[in-house]
Amino acid sequence: MARQRVEFRCDECGGAAPRWAGQCPVCGAWNALHEVAIAAPSIAPIHQLTPATPLADVDMAQWKARPTGIDELDRVLSGGLVPGSVTLLGGEPGVGKSTLLTQVAAQMAHRGAKVLYVSAEESSQQVRLRAERLDAIAPPLWLASETALPHLIAHLDAVRPDVVIVDSIQSVHDPELGSAPGSVVQVRECAHRLVRQAKGRGVAVVLVGHVTKDGGLAGPRVLEHVVDTVLSFEGDHHHALRLVRALKHRFGSTNEVGVFEMADHGLVPVPDASALFLADRRPGVPGSTVAPAIDGHRPLLVEVQALTIKSTLPMPRRSAQGLDGGRLAFLLAVLERRTNVGIGGHDVFALAVGGARVVEPGADLALALAVASSAADVALPDDLVACAEVGLGGELRQVGQTSRRLSEAARLGFRRVLLPPSAPEPPAGLTAWRAATLQSAIALAGLEP
Ligand code: TYD
Ligand code: MG
Repeated sequence: MARQRVEFRCDECGGAAPRWAGQCPVCGAWNALHEVAIAAPSIAPIHQLTPATPLADVDMAQWKARPTGIDELDRVLSGGLVPGSVTLLGGEPGVGKSTLLTQVAAQMAHRGAKVLYVSAEESSQQVRLRAERLDAIAPPLWLASETALPHLIAHLDAVRPDVVIVDSIQSVHDPELGSAPGSVVQVRECAHRLVRQAKGRGVAVVLVGHVTKDGGLAGPRVLEHVVDTVLSFEGDHHHALRLVRALKHRFGSTNEVGVFEMADHGLVPVPDASALFLADRRPGVPGSTVAPAIDGHRPLLVEVQALTIKSTLPMPRRSAQGLDGGRLAFLLAVLERRTNVGIGGHDVFALAVGGARVVEPGADLALALAVASSAADVALPDDLVACAEVGLGGELRQVGQTSRRLSEAARLGFRRVLLPPSAPEPPAGLTAWRAATLQSAIALAGLEP
């Protein structure tokens, strides 16, 4: 009989080494290598082979997405959760992953799916308390408080769910693997095994993954390759706004964004995000403009504010919140050199209001005008939006999807738009003010010092 082959695996990074060493050759961690047996891959005997089929005859009935019942999420998922697929929902601790998935579980259960919620972090009582707050106690919703993977799989046998939610994958472990719970090896192997369960049983699996501050999935990025769909759940703790977007999606596009607001009784869908961002806008204040930005495919009107103030520091301060700091520095340089707005020796604070994040060049002109408006202490017209990219020469350029942006602006009652000469005609109700350079846009907007 052949001797079983072994290799050494690192607990920290999952890297393999042919022989033991004190230090992992991949990540350099000390004392992290453990011996593991290499299982010979097993395949079905040749007489059980599934014959190849013409592409058009492949049965698609099983792969029809099942709506989650939460429209903002279904749009991101191109319809819903596909049976046999695995979806990873990543987000920082506290952003609302458990809340969203409890609501998904309840909605799907109401629509006749059998849902199993596996809580590996919280006790059943904690989960029930949350579910009560969310009004989510539906009869076909099953709950297991479990961290061991073999037990979790036994629950799948017992409950036979259509959908299983594992909260979180970092807390699930398989004692067989030896390495510590939460280690990369554990997380990756457990995810692999759950993927096999999903495909084998045709059950839709949703995994929760914690993301660290720097945006990486705590532990393994490798999870992203294993699953079919990666959703990212974003939002900051000081604002109620939450965004769900698909980073990877095998069953549809990754361009949609779902918008929610965290309320007392869970996440409330926000179909009209622009109205939310503009709700508290005060007219007539210098330093404020509105940028018709695009997030994915979705137009989003965001108020951009700037405040300039004579600096007492040798190096004036520049601060950008919800905006790209590099872009702000670039625009200030262009303003200084290509226009007669003088902001040298001034501190500049710039902000996208309401917890929005606008980092695309489509907001350049709006941001530059906000700075110019604050410097001149003259307010821009309330019904004006500005939509252009600014070049190093101070020239204005058309940005992608201008028509969609302008339709959204018209829908929300804006009447005037500052555009570069090449941009398409705006829709009815919006009058175009065309400017070829930043300087002429500033003059048109009445901000010349
Ligand atoms: P949670 O879903 O536990 O976050 P995660 O699973 O991503 O770690 O939710 C965290 C926050 O949401 C928590 O601070 C409380 C708040 N919250 C509400 O504001 N309203 C609610 O209805 C619920 C359930 C939570
Ligand atoms: Mg949670």
